[in-house]
Amino acid sequence: MQADVAQLAERLIRNQQVTGSIPVVGSSNLFMEETEVFTLLGEAGFARLTAAFYRQIPQDDILGPMYPAADLEGAEQRLRNFLIFRFGGPARYIEQRGHPRLRQRHFRFPITQAARDRWILLMMRAIETSELPDEAAQCLSRFFAETATFLINQSESVSAPGAAPPQTLRWH
Ligand code: HEM
Repeated sequence: MQADVAQLAERLIRNQQVTGSIPVVGSSNLFMEETEVFTLLGEAGFARLTAAFYRQIPQDDILGPMYPAADLEGAEQRLRNFLIFRFGGPARYIEQRGHPRLRQRHFRFPITQAARDRWILLMMRAIETSELPDEAAQCLSRFFAETATFLINQSESVSAPGAAPPQTLRWH
């Protein structure tokens, strides 16, 4: 168990450094090695997943307008490379885009609870249609749920004219 705890600590630190996300301690598969996901899915699995996600974007009423219509292929590639890197594959994302700084990179998009929930809905459908192995699907689902919540940067309520802007969490 000692070794497991040391491994866990290392994984949590890496998770925080790379995604800026706050790890949730107490989840059921704490000791699952995330880097194994790439071994299970390979490039092809991640390609199926991100293609299934982006296929739904253009017609989505909340998310569609946020994404670059003229460069959806590029956007798909950025997400794919990020996930491949994050889950144990080649570090193309870092080479091309640098440190992920996901929260910072998402500030320019209005991410409300509703937008977060829609993103997750589309991603859960994508996981289902991509027919990923259960273990990998679970690991990815947990990561997406936590990270998407962390990226919320706006409250739903529309402020009255002259009212103070909604509070957003900023850490840079
Ligand atoms: C919570 C709801 C979310 C919304 C509304 C959202 C929206 C967006 C949009 C509009 C882009 C720009 C597309 C592009 O040109 O690259 C983007 C980029 C990106 N998103 Fe999200 N996103 C969300 C959640 C997530 C989550 C959970 C992840 C983690 C897997 C993620 C990872 C990324 C990455 C890696 C990029 C590319 C960043 C870059 O290198 O510029 N997003 N997102």
